[in-house]
Amino acid sequence: MIIALTGFMGCGKSSVGRKLRTLLSCDLTDLDSYIEDKTGRTIREIFKNDGEAVFRQIEQGCLKQFLDTPEEGEYTILSLGGGTLMTEDCRKMVREKARCVYLRATVDTLEHNLHFGVESRPLLAGGDLREKIMAMMEKRGPVYEETADIIVDTDGRSFDQVAREIAGALVR
Ligand code: S3P
Repeated sequence: MIIALTGFMGCGKSSVGRKLRTLLSCDLTDLDSYIEDKTGRTIREIFKNDGEAVFRQIEQGCLKQFLDTPEEGEYTILSLGGGTLMTEDCRKMVREKARCVYLRATVDTLEHNLHFGVESRPLLAGGDLREKIMAMMEKRGPVYEETADIIVDTDGRSFDQVAREIAGALVR
């Protein structure tokens, strides 16, 4: 079973993914890193030189490639990018081939977590961080919620607590 972690940038997908990997003794792939490996380019570079639309096409192709690869072991964790599910075909693939877990966080938590992570995230560069998060979450929040099979609230909780809740929900 592929467990796809989704949620806004800074919600803790990578950190929770690492904890969950330990709990489930399984593989973990970060879609952004997978894209960087496959293309030999960084996410920043792709955004800077080719723009978001090209990035989304590459992201979709890499997601398909990953989901089409035969699985080894009972579980495989895939940490999606915060915007992956905004592409309709990506949502379809995730619904068909994975169990999707939404790590839900409030704007306050996201703003706090992203304070030092803006550099590596092209979509958040420049302008007022909080306003950007609010505007993007207005569109993305409902999409994450309707795509997810499991929703876990992350505010005020450790990565370990969140990972344990996911592990519990998976076996239920
Ligand atoms: C994006 C999130 C990033 C990365 C890219 C676009 C987004 O991943 O895929 O910068 O649209 O939210 P993380 O959510 O892992 O930061």
